[in-house]
Amino acid sequence: MKLEGRYIETPGFMDLHAHLREPGFEESETLATGAHAALHGGFTTVCAMPNTDPAIDTPALVKEIYARAPGWAEGGRVWPIASITRGRKGKELADLVELAEAGAVAFSDDGSPVDDPRLFRSALEYARSAGRVVIEHPQDTALSAKGVMHEGAVSARLGLPGMPAAAEETAVARDITLARMTGARLHLTHVSTAGSIELVRRAKADGVPVTCDITPHHLALTDEWVAGSRAFAWEVEDEGLRGVPYDSSTKVNPPLRTLGDVRALWAGLADGTVDAIATDHAPHASTRKDVEFDQAAFGISGLETAVPLILGGVRAGWAPLTTVIAALTTGPARVLGVELPEGDHLTIDTQAEWVVTPESFFSLGKNTPLMGRSLIGRVDIAGLGLTKRGGGQRAAEAISRR
Ligand code: DOR
Repeated sequence: MKLEGRYIETPGFMDLHAHLREPGFEESETLATGAHAALHGGFTTVCAMPNTDPAIDTPALVKEIYARAPGWAEGGRVWPIASITRGRKGKELADLVELAEAGAVAFSDDGSPVDDPRLFRSALEYARSAGRVVIEHPQDTALSAKGVMHEGAVSARLGLPGMPAAAEETAVARDITLARMTGARLHLTHVSTAGSIELVRRAKADGVPVTCDITPHHLALTDEWVAGSRAFAWEVEDEGLRGVPYDSSTKVNPPLRTLGDVRALWAGLADGTVDAIATDHAPHASTRKDVEFDQAAFGISGLETAVPLILGGVRAGWAPLTTVIAALTTGPARVLGVELPEGDHLTIDTQAEWVVTPESFFSLGKNTPLMGRSLIGRVDIAGLGLTKRGGGQRAAEAISRR
């Protein structure tokens, strides 16, 4: 596959990491609006993270997600990820075998790493018995402390507390060590630093059963965006395009990193160190985002802008198209140990130019630093039988029923 012709035909994408917020935070997203946004972005399968209220930590709740998820006509299929620990509190393991039997496709306490290494070891061992992968959010919370962005020259300039790259890398190293020790499958999600990529690369070369994913925003944006830059990693700075500094839409965890880190993520994709691209779609109601930078919630609404961000790097020659398509399809399926669902086909118009507006999103989460930005490349939604009006209406009905 080459980015030569205007249209790309591809199997539907699978997103290993999205926050669909239901139950508990339906003002930010619902299963219906999230599944709808997924399909709009090309993701015909979307894995829903369990940091809901209540957390998805019982078989009944796993089944409830399947029951509530919208039908195919309204969105991508939703696969629940169950929490590793009860209530995601990091104290006691959930019943992983029973959760898997109920249909949990993986386990994760995403948003909160499992700090206790002994508990994490047990999680890996039980998950192996359950035939599922543990998806870990690698972060040493003592080291990241109260950081709100990447620690480096930009955070120093802005006077914001930073999260050092080492806060991720020490966690990656610990997690890899435990995967090596237990022989259990470990998946590291939203890996964002050059050092983490190198650790995964070496672990894979040593035969450790580890996989990882990276996000479209970490592939395209740098920490300079927190200071107001709006240049993609492959672009030169355009003064006319600058945004304002301290814009909370750029606040995300892991934080946007340096250009060197971005290049290392692309290199990891190109050489097979990175297995999947996952959105970490993190929609938030404006009350949680339209506040001061240090008070704002972490997260970027990412399902509907993934394709143009990724195509930007492909156009710059940073990884081949076939590699990124694999990272959106067969790669994530392999991480979960499943076949890619058959029969989902997408057409991507690689030259379609569109402007990100609140109305252009099916997601209720309008929190993206790309708002107002013109992007190139989009999924042909007409081909999916998805219309903004029909879908939006159904989503609105789903919300009003609650
Ligand atoms: O930016 C983030 N938002 N990172 C996470 O780990 C959690 C997520 C969320 O749930 O909003």
